Amino acid sequence: MSFDVQEIRAQFPILSRTVHNKPLVYLDNAATTQKPQVVIDALVNYYSYSNSNVHRGAHQLADEATRQYEAARDTVADFIQAADRCEVIWTSGTTESINIVAHGLAILLNESDQVLVTEMEHHANLVTWQQACKASGAKLVVAPIDDNGELIIDQYLSLINENTRLAALPHASNALGSLNPIKLLTTQLKKRSNNKALMLIDGAQGIAHSSVNVAEIGCDFYVFSSHKLYGPTGLGVLWGKQALLKDWPVWQTGGEMISEVSYQDATWNTLPYRLEAGTPNIAGAIAFGAAVNWFTKLDVKALLAHEEKVFSYATAQAEAFNGLTIIGQASHKVPVLSFIMDRGHPADIGFILDRQGVAIRTGHHCAQPLMERLNVPGTARASFAMYNTCEEVDILFSSLEKVKQMLA
Ligand SMILES: Cc1ncc(COP(=O)(O)O)c(C=O)c1O
Repeated sequence: MSFDVQEIRAQFPILSRTVHNKPLVYLDNAATTQKPQVVIDALVNYYSYSNSNVHRGAHQLADEATRQYEAARDTVADFIQAADRCEVIWTSGTTESINIVAHGLAILLNESDQVLVTEMEHHANLVTWQQACKASGAKLVVAPIDDNGELIIDQYLSLINENTRLAALPHASNALGSLNPIKLLTTQLKKRSNNKALMLIDGAQGIAHSSVNVAEIGCDFYVFSSHKLYGPTGLGVLWGKQALLKDWPVWQTGGEMISEVSYQDATWNTLPYRLEAGTPNIAGAIAFGAAVNWFTKLDVKALLAHEEKVFSYATAQAEAFNGLTIIGQASHKVPVLSFIMDRGHPADIGFILDRQGVAIRTGHHCAQPLMERLNVPGTARASFAMYNTCEEVDILFSSLEKVKQMLA
């Protein structure tokens, strides 16, 4: 197998549209990826022909919807090598997945406990733990990064002790691209905490740019969002070890998550349903299953090599570009290029690029403390996906020349 980027692009209808009369150059993939036709078709087909609630219907449509919905769970469980399908909990996204874990942990934590995060967290993986610590009296410990945006491993390890109850860590930073050695850190966390600490990996930025095998990583929770892996918005995954999730404090109460209910009491359903209250995002799960099936049929090694080629090309151009500074120069990165320019606030850069048809993201990228740590008000961020090309990188940099001229 190999990877033909034009063949891939042809499967994404949005990539052939124009913006401000210019061909769209979509470089905001860390925020959300575009959707291939198979995913759009899965949504349309579900609503056109199989729409029904799941699990409790006594009719053919309910059977079809339930089968498709649960098949998607199998697909995702296989994709991340989960030991059991019941370990895949559907959520509304990475944010909700982290909140489910933090909500449960806040109940279990006490004042002598510590939660370890890093300076590169997205707010979803920081504020959530910060508030869980506030509620429980536990201490939030923040592991430092260096000026390149790379986690300082020695210092990270020195912060682990027997009071560490949980470490929450991004697989990769959304703001800088830094890729963390999650397997090594998980092994060390377990060793140094005497197996007392749990590891949660925020996989929002890792899932589309690496082959994730949760068993091999050894973590306890791995969380991610469908929309960053070519699937629909409003759906995410909480993967957790069955031994933990089966007794995890329930998140929301209501339909689906119960076993027996009386006026005065209730008992809980088994996994995965005990953590999935109410009517789920059925269409989203089915379409995400289609996205993962589509993704896994590609030559993933070749597509990652393609992304790496385009990203290296962009990085080389950025390094040679006068007046531009790359923010985040870790030795291992996902394809995220964050930068500032001598002239021009990131918001101005974003505005001018948009007029050239180039979509990037600007601002603090939901990482305000990180921006403060790096002493920047925010950055401009170009983030790449499998369908981006070196020609698009050329358009990005010729547009940045225009930015330079206009802001001179
Ligand atoms: C590293 C990281 N964590 C968490 C999130 C939150 O994801 P969602 O908004 O899909 O819940 C994001 C989104 O950009 C992210 O990049």
